[in-house]
Amino acid sequence: MVSGFSVEWLNLREAADQRARDPQLREQALVWLGLSGGARAAHAFSESIVVDLGAGTGSTLRALAVPGSQQLVWRLVDNDGALLDDALRRHGKHYRIEDYQSDLTVVGELPLGGARLVTASALFDLMSAAFVDALVKRLSSLRGTWASGLYAALNYDGTTVWNPAHPYDATVLAAFNQDQRRDKGAGLALGPEAGNYLAAALTQAGFKVQTAQSPWLLGAADAAMVEALITGIADAVAASSGIDEQLLASWREFRFAHAASGSCTIGHVDVLALP
Ligand SMILES: C[S@@+](CC[C@H](N)C(=O)[O-])C[C@H]1O[C@@H](n2cnc3c(N)ncnc32)[C@H](O)[C@@H]1O
Repeated sequence: MVSGFSVEWLNLREAADQRARDPQLREQALVWLGLSGGARAAHAFSESIVVDLGAGTGSTLRALAVPGSQQLVWRLVDNDGALLDDALRRHGKHYRIEDYQSDLTVVGELPLGGARLVTASALFDLMSAAFVDALVKRLSSLRGTWASGLYAALNYDGTTVWNPAHPYDATVLAAFNQDQRRDKGAGLALGPEAGNYLAAALTQAGFKVQTAQSPWLLGAADAAMVEALITGIADAVAASSGIDEQLLASWREFRFAHAASGSCTIGHVDVLALP
């Protein structure tokens, strides 16, 4: 469940995602688009192009929904046609959407032409260092023609704190973080290193980079999401070396028993890079 990208799972996590995004980086992304702050009056960015990589059902479009955002051109890129269809069904009437069902790893063919901002959320931890390198190189090479920023929210940072604690938490987390580095179809994934790696690559390429913590803060209202997370984590680590089947079963049982009364903090980092 955690590593699957069904509409149901993305819907389940949407509220926690929107709460988690760092408000200041989101605001600065809107300023860069001319949709907030002084730039709103000073610039006419209404025709600007935003390219959302791994767009899913359009979570970033919703996160940046402010007066004026319907005038932008939204290029939604994802290899999952069902998710793109869902985004079009929800927003196609009111937004100027161009959908691209394609593989992000073919970086040279990403439709970045004319983009004012490239966005992504909950994506880079799935991707490889080679993908980041190629994307940053492509963004840099476009700078002579036009200047695109990059706003990458919600990159998992490897931290998870459960309350109440269980003696097997650290073992499960270590195995889960190891699993996060697995090849998910786009090369060996950066997993918890994604935010740091991306920020360093962009800084090295001369972008002005800011990062901010954007943890999921999950409580009783998120019990359904927490239950899905527990199942996803337990399934992901079940076959890991060093995991004891019985201890994992008792961890899972304990976590389920506290899903509606306990809390959970899962760390992410947001990255905003401007030319
Ligand atoms: C965790 S989901 C995030 C979706 C959306 N950005 C959100 O925040 O709800 C990751 C998305 O990346 C897409 N994705 C993963 N690898 C991809 C690839 N190689 N090419 C295109 N899309 C990919 C998945 O289909 C999925 O929609």
